[in-house]
Amino acid sequence: MNLMPLVFDRFEHYCIKQAPKVASFHPYFETALWEMVLNGGKRFRPKLLLSVVAGYKPKMLEKAFAPALALEILHTYSLIHDDLPAMDNAPLRRGHPTLHAKYDEVGAILIGDGLNTQSFYLITKAKLKPKIKVKLIQALSCNGGIYGMVLGQALDCYFENQQLPLKKLRTIHLNKTAKLIAASLQMGGILAECDKKTCKKLYQLGLDLGLFFQIRDDIIDATQSEQEAGKPTHQDSAKNSYVNLLGLENAKKEAKAMIDSIHLQLKALHPKANKLLNELLSPYFAL
Ligand code: IPE
Ligand code: IPE
Ligand code: MG
Ligand code: MG
Ligand code: MG
Repeated sequence: MNLMPLVFDRFEHYCIKQAPKVASFHPYFETALWEMVLNGGKRFRPKLLLSVVAGYKPKMLEKAFAPALALEILHTYSLIHDDLPAMDNAPLRRGHPTLHAKYDEVGAILIGDGLNTQSFYLITKAKLKPKIKVKLIQALSCNGGIYGMVLGQALDCYFENQQLPLKKLRTIHLNKTAKLIAASLQMGGILAECDKKTCKKLYQLGLDLGLFFQIRDDIIDATQSEQEAGKPTHQDSAKNSYVNLLGLENAKKEAKAMIDSIHLQLKALHPKANKLLNELLSPYFAL
């Protein structure tokens, strides 16, 4: 029997319970702080982390919730900032109004900042060996910051309205999206105390999976309605995206070719991790 849906359900309750109490006389800071975290989202990154832990060291699952939430709130911060008027200027996210649209821009910027730092605070407070905490913080900060997501977002926004060659687009997608997804698998490996070689395999696989995930997101922008996606679509016309550079059909071909490579890499993992990750990923592979 696949126990992961139950684990994911418990994780969802954990997310609700972890809403920080920040008593102040600010009229909405505390409410707005956790609002986008609880507005849904696929929880793709925590589910990757938890599936790796379940595959390699299931007794660590409960302790993995804190770093899984850390990943999710760092990702949520990246979405809040991604939607700001200065970046992608989107009024809807996860089927709900974005924070800058519902409250104000200052609030959205600062709540993004708050979730960013809170993610590392959560790891420091987790019931884990100090050595593991340091490795987790390193993986998250390296891939979610200036060597990963932040750099990718800077490139993505700076080169709007300028068509880049595919190689450079790949670099943008690797940084803005793939590295955090790779870190999710790697952090699962760190929590399960996998050997260095396995952690490296997980990270490499994650880079391919993350690149696939962003190509899939580019396809969603071109093909889905706002209601289906829970965010505005047909927004990428000024962006460097796989659909804009290759056309929809070739972008789909590229994504399908990546699925084959991902399947091969999954097979090289422990059979249980392979099985759990396959179950998690198969709906994403239906293009
Ligand atoms: C959206 O991420 C931004 C990208 C990196 C493509 P998700 O597709 O994981 O968004 P949520 O978390 O489900 O809202
Ligand atoms: C955003 O990519 C990647 C992030 C780091 C948040 P997109 O701008 O394509 O994400 P969506 O389509 O708004 O979710
Ligand atoms: Mg963007
Ligand atoms: Mg966007
Ligand atoms: Mg997109």
